[in-house]
Amino acid sequence: MASGSRVEEGNADGVSWRLIGPASELSKKRCRLMYSSFGHNSDVCLFYVKGEFFAMDARCSHSGGPLCEGDIEEADAVLQVFCPWHDYNFDLRTGKSGTFLQQQVYEVKLEDSSVYVKHTSHLSLQPFPADPKS
Ligand code: FES
Repeated sequence: MASGSRVEEGNADGVSWRLIGPASELSKKRCRLMYSSFGHNSDVCLFYVKGEFFAMDARCSHSGGPLCEGDIEEADAVLQVFCPWHDYNFDLRTGKSGTFLQQQVYEVKLEDSSVYVKHTSHLSLQPFPADPKS
């Protein structure tokens, strides 16, 4: 599967549309972890729920729980993921929580049947090679 192989449109902040892969493939799982070239704390979840993709920081803003492993529920037409560690909820579209917390979300677009996520780092479905200096 292609990943990050096309020229990506960027801006001065380093935010670019990152090619993730074909929508037909990515829609087969409810959540996929996208590794960030910035490291573990910047990884992103790509959710596919009710025919739509959503991207959100993969580590819960409470204490770092793995949101890709959380339950997804719809209440009052709001799709939410529940963190598996302490059950805090986050709106998949806005990242807002019923608590004081806010989870970072990212824009997702479909183009030529491929999924793109707008992010400052490179994103990959495979881990990046370890930094030899660390
Ligand atoms: S780590 Fe997610 S709710 Fe506590």
